[in-house]
Amino acid sequence: MKILVTGGAGYIASHTNLELLNAGYDVVIVDNLSNSSMESVKRVEKLTGRKIAFYEVDILDKESLRQIFEKEKIDSVIHFAGLKAVGESCLKPLNYFRNNLSGTIVLLEVMQEFAVKSLVFSSSATVYGDPAKVPVTEDMPLSVTNPYGRTKLMIEDILQDLYRSDATWNIAILRYFNPIGAHESGEIGEDPSGIPNNLVPYVAKVAIGELEKINVNGDDYDTPDGTGIRDYIHVVDLALGHIKAIEKLTDHPGLVIYNLGTGIGYSVFDIIHNYEKACNKKLPYTVVARRPGDIAVSYADASKAYQELGWKAERGIDKMCEDSYRWQSKYPKGYSK
Ligand code: NAD
Ligand code: UD1
Repeated sequence: MKILVTGGAGYIASHTNLELLNAGYDVVIVDNLSNSSMESVKRVEKLTGRKIAFYEVDILDKESLRQIFEKEKIDSVIHFAGLKAVGESCLKPLNYFRNNLSGTIVLLEVMQEFAVKSLVFSSSATVYGDPAKVPVTEDMPLSVTNPYGRTKLMIEDILQDLYRSDATWNIAILRYFNPIGAHESGEIGEDPSGIPNNLVPYVAKVAIGELEKINVNGDDYDTPDGTGIRDYIHVVDLALGHIKAIEKLTDHPGLVIYNLGTGIGYSVFDIIHNYEKACNKKLPYTVVARRPGDIAVSYADASKAYQELGWKAERGIDKMCEDSYRWQSKYPKGYSK
């Protein structure tokens, strides 16, 4: 079975490609390399001993996408391609709408043209906004607070409308909580450009001495230690969730939605302390102002994915921090040596 992976050179996709190849799937990547490097693709090939068909193509380029569908005879698509920085999306909303929304529409049009109607879509826990209760279940009300989140919610709506118009589509919407960590080989991992926005990539840079200290964004939230609580999930568990979703689509389920999280919430201080164990040193931090738009607590009820996909996250916070640190210390500059 041949899977087209859009954004396939990126962080979550590279881990998913590895699991797809190990499970016997063929992988075709479309990526414009706007936030990634070919090196991740090469490393996945090396780790698996398998070849990947790679196309440096923007998903907005319909004609090139058509040619790929013509040539490759795709069975199913996992759609990761998109811009994902919340702050940047507030400064440049049109870039986000054009890239994420228009890109998805072009992709869906080409899929329809070639009668490829099986899609896994990367959504985000951001579509729950500030959840009224935790753990968060898939049927809870949705809302967003920034353009990035709006693109995710709008794409979910587009997919719902598409499915209503033509029930021969099979679509799995996966709402990721907070993916962190890296493959245990230390060969692939998250490689943010510039100063990381997200907590764990920032902590990793402090651990290797590239950044001086962690900024804890607020210790006055209504949580046991006052810092924000999130559901961190090992990227390899997340990747394996995609394999289960692809298997589910072969049963023709229609449109399905799953939270992919662990169901456990950790605070910022929990993360710092667990990372200190992984790197075996004290990590300096300072408490600074809350980050605008941040919420106090979010973690998943992931029982639907367990019941319907037979998937649950297996890797704990120790492993997430150890694997993150292994990757970061082995490749302090990420893929660019
Ligand atoms: P990433 O930036 O590492 O991967 C995205 C990839 O898409 C990159 O390789 C980039 O070059 C590519 N891309 C972007 N626009 C493209 C376009 N127009 N045409 C072709 N390629 C394009 O990000 P990631 O963390 O691996 O996230 C993958 C997906 O999961 C994204 O859709 C993201 O919004 C979603 N998601 C990520 C997180 C997270 O915390 N990492 C959480 C929830 C959802
Ligand atoms: C971020 C994205 C969100 C996305 C989610 C999934 C932002 C604003 N939101 O959410 O859209 O769906 O990732 O991975 O980027 N923190 C610090 N210091 C830092 C960075 C973060 O204390 O330097 C705190 C935050 O206040 C939060 C926690 O760490 O409590 C996690 O932050 P982060 O890793 O950025 O993830 P989210 O905010 O959950």
